[in-house]
Amino acid sequence: MGNKDLVLLVLIAVCVFEGCYCKTVTYDHRALVIDGKRRVLQSGSIHYPRSMPEVWPEIIRKSKEGGLDVIETYVFWNNHEPVRGEYYFEGRFDLVRFVKTVQEAGLLVHLRIGPYACAEWNYGGFPVWLHFIPGIQFRTTNDLFKNEMKRFLAKIVSLMKDADLFASQGGPIILAQVENEYGNVEWAYGVGGELYVKWAAETAVSLNTSVPWVMCQQEDAPDPIINTCNGFYCDRFTPNSPSKPKMWTENYSGWFLAFGNAIPYRPVEDLAFSVARFFETGGTFQNYYMYFGGTNFERTAGGPLVATSYDYDAPIDEYGFIRQPKWGHLRDLHKAIKQCEEFLISSDPTYLQLGKNLEAHIYYRTSNKCAAFLANFDSSLDANVTFNGNSYFLPAWSVSILPDCKNVIFNTAKVVSQRNLHGVSFSGTTSVNEFSLASSAWSWYKEEVGVSSNHSFIKPGLLEQINTTKDNSDYLWYTTSINVKESIAPGQEKEAFLHIGSLGHAALVFVNKRLVGFGFGNHEDASFNLSEKISLNQGDNTLDILSMMVGLQNYGPWFDIAGAGIYSVILADLKKSSKDDLSSGVWTYQVGVEGEYIGLDKISLANSSLWIQGNRLPINRSLIWYKATFLAPEGKGPLSLDLASMGKGQAWVNGQSIGRYWPAYLAPSTGCTTNCDYRGAYDASKCLRNCGQPAQTLYHIPRTWVHSGENLLVLHEELGGDPSKISLLTRTGQEVCAHVSEADPPPADSWQPNLEFMSQSSQVRLTCEQGWHISMINFASFGTPRGHCGTFNPGNCHANVLSVVQQACIGQEGCAIPVSTARLGDPCPGVLKSLAIEALCSY
Ligand code: GAL
Repeated sequence: MGNKDLVLLVLIAVCVFEGCYCKTVTYDHRALVIDGKRRVLQSGSIHYPRSMPEVWPEIIRKSKEGGLDVIETYVFWNNHEPVRGEYYFEGRFDLVRFVKTVQEAGLLVHLRIGPYACAEWNYGGFPVWLHFIPGIQFRTTNDLFKNEMKRFLAKIVSLMKDADLFASQGGPIILAQVENEYGNVEWAYGVGGELYVKWAAETAVSLNTSVPWVMCQQEDAPDPIINTCNGFYCDRFTPNSPSKPKMWTENYSGWFLAFGNAIPYRPVEDLAFSVARFFETGGTFQNYYMYFGGTNFERTAGGPLVATSYDYDAPIDEYGFIRQPKWGHLRDLHKAIKQCEEFLISSDPTYLQLGKNLEAHIYYRTSNKCAAFLANFDSSLDANVTFNGNSYFLPAWSVSILPDCKNVIFNTAKVVSQRNLHGVSFSGTTSVNEFSLASSAWSWYKEEVGVSSNHSFIKPGLLEQINTTKDNSDYLWYTTSINVKESIAPGQEKEAFLHIGSLGHAALVFVNKRLVGFGFGNHEDASFNLSEKISLNQGDNTLDILSMMVGLQNYGPWFDIAGAGIYSVILADLKKSSKDDLSSGVWTYQVGVEGEYIGLDKISLANSSLWIQGNRLPINRSLIWYKATFLAPEGKGPLSLDLASMGKGQAWVNGQSIGRYWPAYLAPSTGCTTNCDYRGAYDASKCLRNCGQPAQTLYHIPRTWVHSGENLLVLHEELGGDPSKISLLTRTGQEVCAHVSEADPPPADSWQPNLEFMSQSSQVRLTCEQGWHISMINFASFGTPRGHCGTFNPGNCHANVLSVVQQACIGQEGCAIPVSTARLGDPCPGVLKSLAIEALCSY
């Protein structure tokens, strides 16, 4: 017996003895190999701090039902080590609890330890204190950085080991990631970058996790690290060694949202197409980024200007509700791919050209048993193809899946899944309860403009913001005085121009404590210039600039040293055409605003006499704090705060920050499409909605942050808004619908190769959120119903099947009705019929 065998024996003995289900995870050129078996895996990203631990089980259950095998998450260093050496793993940052929750659901975990995350997370997940270690350089071969990175990697690995969470210990973690997309920026780090990649790989391997490591977007990932693909499509990707499997770590289910931008969405037909193409062409592991996006609570949003909602158009929406038909169509796809698993792991695909932009890939188990994927990747032309002697219709930009090389059980462009009316959780539906917070409910506090003597300090010149605030606050006051020496007649003022240059992200400008301007950048470029005509008095005038950060940058080469704040202030005299550069003058600074020092967001100050109450609620005022109490609406579901009437600021519920808001920033008025054509290559700007509207008006309040009785709501309004128009929403129902034809394939999970395919019928399947039930059928017709979800009408051929549907569905959480004449009767023999149903799910 060699050493290796001995180790194996000991391992088995330990496992058996301890009663654990230890797994070995390795890989070969086809797939990850778990306990000796190649696996085809569907994975989805769920970042634990973007939702509450109380809802993790529910979100993970929905992920499992959606057909996922693996949950992927980054680890967020900055929140786990807010102060060097002081760790935090509580609440929604309880990483061990999250991994265990996934394990309890029977799913696996891909842990992307990084520690660089990117992820639209503040500073990409790096703690800001790291930046202040003298001599440090991030993400390159710098010993100071490497020591800190190694220490954190080791910390997380040992945390996982101590809780027995790696697969070899019986835990769910089958994969780990070091760094993140470094290959995209490596060029900017020169030789230091190449050395850093090697070091990161060696360091990861040295931590003995016993699971494979990946580096995404890293062509030069050294063995044994697997280099993986990220992107909207990865079918053309090949790993850097024939011994590594083809893996896709980020398949974007939509895209993230930034303040001032329209809302991106990705049609499910295209997403399903990209997935099917990937498995068709040899892929065996695919991860949706994001499967559930959630919310950027507090100041965790990255930047610049990443919005608070991280909904991402994901299959599970920001509030944890299932998004249809995205979730359902992908579930059907996963089931179809599962039906092919034994073929996929048995061989490499055999390629067959079927015509222009038409191809098949066939996986053989034996010479006469196979599964096939037929693809039409033409962006506009539908096609009929012949494969294996049979003919198939392939819509443009679609893939058909044939688990027996004969019957199509799924086509990516054919959505039979249920749809939800009113796509987004809380908008425009009749089933939302609204509670408005009347003017009388509000108190306010008008905060000081400028610095207060207690917290200020003086420096010559203009300071860079992040180096000054250390991100302890979004705000930095820049204050100076402008002395007008010339004499000005009483009652007159001198006019001048103020030119301000800022690296970002936004700034309010006050002259003599009066607001004269507001400047701001955008996600693509946060820098801006402001030019304002101002009036000055004889003698001293005050100039106060409140520079505001909206999330620290999280992406790009050397992103960690990208600056922010005011870099130039010039006063131009209109009459004398002279310029006075105030930039190098003496400035007084204050990190943070007055209300933050007082702690107005805190529950302890809710009854303070600082808060003013009265009949005349000030509206449209800058730098004002508002406070109200509200009774939480009944139910268990999440709540949403409609802040459409507000400008820009931050909000807290019972002392917990629900994030930044900025509804006053409207998206450009052009570039949106109501019906985005899914055919043809997708990119993040292809399908946009809400042009000319705020990126985000609704803000998520987790149910666990409210209680019965009075709850405290505090807003810090920077620009000006009207709090009397704020309302609180809760969801009490959901209208769902589906339209399925007799000719559609039966559900992929009911497919059995030995059953005669055509004897299995297609189905309409309706499902409500857990705990909800179908309370009403608004429409049901079998025949040739017309229209779309929400506007169905009976067609020429119509069987009223209302009572059949009611009987099967009312009072149920879900129901399935075969689309067959056997069940529904035959209103028009010889005509191809379909079944359309619209129903209401109620809480
Ligand atoms: C990728 C990155 C992710 C996320 C994504 C955009 O480049 O790896 O962390 O930032 O872009 O949502």
